[in-house]
Formats: sequence, structure tokens, C-alpha cells
Amino acid sequence: MTRDTAHIVEILQQTLGMEISGYDSSFLNNSIQKRITETGCGSPETYAVLIGQSLAERNHFIASLSISYSEFFRNSLTCSALERIIFPMLILRLKESKRQEIRIWSAACAAGQESYSLAIILEELKNGDAEKFNYRIFASDQTESWVARAKLGQYTYEEISNLSLKRVARWFDRHGDRYLLKPNLKRTVDFSVFDLFSESQGSPPASIFGDFDLVICANLLFYYKPVFRKKILDKVSQCLTKGGFLITGETEREILFSLGYREVVPHSAIFQLKP
Ligand SMILES: C[S@@+](CC[C@H](N)C(=O)[O-])C[C@H]1O[C@@H](n2cnc3c(N)ncnc32)[C@H](O)[C@@H]1O
Repeated sequence: MTRDTAHIVEILQQTLGMEISGYDSSFLNNSIQKRITETGCGSPETYAVLIGQSLAERNHFIASLSISYSEFFRNSLTCSALERIIFPMLILRLKESKRQEIRIWSAACAAGQESYSLAIILEELKNGDAEKFNYRIFASDQTESWVARAKLGQYTYEEISNLSLKRVARWFDRHGDRYLLKPNLKRTVDFSVFDLFSESQGSPPASIFGDFDLVICANLLFYYKPVFRKKILDKVSQCLTKGGFLITGETEREILFSLGYREVVPHSAIFQLKP
């Protein structure tokens, strides 16, 4: 981080009383440079004055840190490994155990695309399985407005454009230019607001005790400094059952390797803790 952008971070922390130093420096730097250009300030010094004076700009800047881009079936290799290897393994494990259900947590769910993708795969496997199985998906995000959007289950054509036509017809109802998830699919996910840095809770209260067979914590680690990435990974790992799986984003695999996790299917971003 440059001296000027560090000064802007200092102003933000003082005026908002908000801890933003945990964000990765180059991510913060890029976000500040972007706002300097967008506001026409031209220099970090002028932007520092603006951010010190304008509440609207401070809010705008904070919103720009909460990047919530997501997609249905975002990483195709992860999804196909889940469909063909990991979920069939978990279904078998469930049938051979006394557990009631497969338990899943989507820990940074944005507008729900990731959680509903898991639900679609599981529902399709369930329909092809003679012996039915139960599962529960808990999904959370720190940003209230994204959780509200996820609960709504309503998407634009662009947002569902990488789903097959067959899946769109099966899982969505079209209302004008909007695509609404069918109620039976919407009901399979339990959404709530949850900050992964919560000191008091290990997982969303609705899940009561965690005990997840699989946690997906994808495409947020790279926003944070290494010490905060580790905090998040320690937290979600503690909620896993023995032999549970942890999934990250494709570009975050190196972080997991460096912390000693083992990728169970090559390049899939699906990990287990090393014994
Ligand atoms: C880029 S989106 C990724 C969405 C989805 N996991 C995916 O891979 O498509 C990152 C999400 O992480 C959420 N997030 C960032 N920091 C968080 C935290 N400390 N606790 C919970 N959610 C967080 C953001 O609100 C945002 O919705």
C-alpha cells in the first residue's frame, strides 16, 4: 500500500470506526485507485479530503469493498466432482451411518447462486436414487441485502445464462424478464446473515452445532490478509465432521495448499484436512 492510500485507510477507520486493515493491501489499493478515478479526484490527496468530508463517499467506498459477484455452477470442475464423486460418497456414508442428513454450509453465499447450485445437484441425485436421502443446506453472508436477494430467489436472464435450458425449465418459472426459483427448490436452503469473523458463534445459529459434511467458502479469502484468511479457514474447518470436505474458489487453492490441506480431486478446489 502506498503512503497516500494508507492515509485514506486511516481516515476511513477514524471516521467510521470500522476495521478495514484486514483486507489484502493490493485489494484495498485497487479499490481506492478505482474510486479516485470514478470520482474525478485525480490524486490520493484530493480523494483523502473528499472522503474525510463526505459521508456519501465513505458509504460508497465501503460498498465497493463488498464484491458479491457470483454465478450458478461457477466452477464447473468443482460441480462435476461434487455430482460424480463427493455427493455419491456422502450419500453412501449417510446410509451406512446413524446420521439423519447430509449437512452443508455455503459460508459466503452472495445472492444464493452457489447454494442453489448445490441444491439442484442434490435434488437431481435424489430423484435418481431409489433410496431417498435427506440433506440440509445452510447459507449465509455478512451482507444483509445479499441474503435478502438470495431468499427471494429471483434472477435476470444474464444471471442464469450458464445453466442448461433443461435446468432452467426444470427449476425456474419465468415471469416477464425475471426467472424465479421454483418454491420446492427455494425451500431446501436456510439463509441467514452471518459474519465469518464473529467472535461469539462458530456457524449460523440456525445450524445449532455445525457438524457439516461439507463447507463451501469460495471467492472471498483473497480479499483478506493471510492472517484473516487463516482465521476464516480455522473457523469453517472446526465445523466440519471428521472426514468432511472444504471447498474454495479456483484461484484460492494455493492458500489451502500453503496451510497443509489436501485436495481430494486434482484441480477441483475440494479439500480435506490432512490427518
Ligand atoms: C465474490 S462473493 C462470492 C460468492 C460465492 N461464494 C461464489 O463463490 O460465487 C464474496 C462474498 O463474500 C461475502 N463476505 C465477505 N467477507 C465476509 C465475511 N467476513 N463473512 C461473511 N461473508 C463475507 C461478501 O458479502 C460476498 O457476498
